Amino acid sequence: MPKIKTIEEINLMRPACRLAANTLVMIEPFIKAGVSTEYLNTLCHDYIVGHDAYPSPLNYHGFPKSVCTSVNHVICHGIPSDKKLKNGDIINVDVTVYLNGFHGDTSKTFYVGEPKVRAKKVTEVARKALQVGIDRVRPLATLGDIGHAIQSYVESEKCSVVRDYCGHGIGREFHEAPHVVHYGTAGEGMVLPIGLVFTIEPMVNLGSYKTKTLKDGWTVVTRDKSLSAQFEHTMVVTETGVEVLTLPDGKY
Ligand code: MF3
Ligand code: CO
Ligand code: CO
Repeated sequence: MPKIKTIEEINLMRPACRLAANTLVMIEPFIKAGVSTEYLNTLCHDYIVGHDAYPSPLNYHGFPKSVCTSVNHVICHGIPSDKKLKNGDIINVDVTVYLNGFHGDTSKTFYVGEPKVRAKKVTEVARKALQVGIDRVRPLATLGDIGHAIQSYVESEKCSVVRDYCGHGIGREFHEAPHVVHYGTAGEGMVLPIGLVFTIEPMVNLGSYKTKTLKDGWTVVTRDKSLSAQFEHTMVVTETGVEVLTLPDGKY
């Protein structure tokens, strides 16, 4: 059963979620050709620690870095390295921070320089896929309503939704119940209770949804090497609908 958060707990989660979002704002201007993902990792790490928080991925089930950096055909869980970004790349930076005893989780895909047609396509479909999912969130909607809306939109754009990884409840633990899959049937699945805090984070591929994990045990890539993009927010079900918690300062 999912844990429902009290108002007090949600108030404690706000700073964690806001800090994660602010980290993405901080990193954006550094994302350019010639920069290594390791450098981006260091900047995010120092920013998070500098705000008295802990980068949740670091040592999480052995993950070796503080953020995930997933470039081009990497779907998720990319490990920052000395490899440098090139013009035309797309890169998802996935930031999760632990502050006040709670986690906040958000990610965005960025363009390195000017995007090519296919990179722009998959990225803009992923951006809208997250919004289409958020738009379904309200009390008495079901998880299937969210998944169905995302899948229908993404497939109408001739892209595919990754099946092997999903959104999740979040709170005192990084990953809590329920699993929030990004495909499905309207009306099916758990009814959303007020106070449920969870993520939506659709991974959208230009080709097939099939995944493969590299020998490093973490990096998840598209089997067909097609481009993949992702956006993620942490949100709470409210009486009137939804409140996105991972908005940066200035966006409230
Ligand atoms: N931030 C990812 C998510 O959205 C999880 C990363 S797990 C890690 O759920 F270990 F790779 F960091
Ligand atoms: Co997440
Ligand atoms: Co994340």
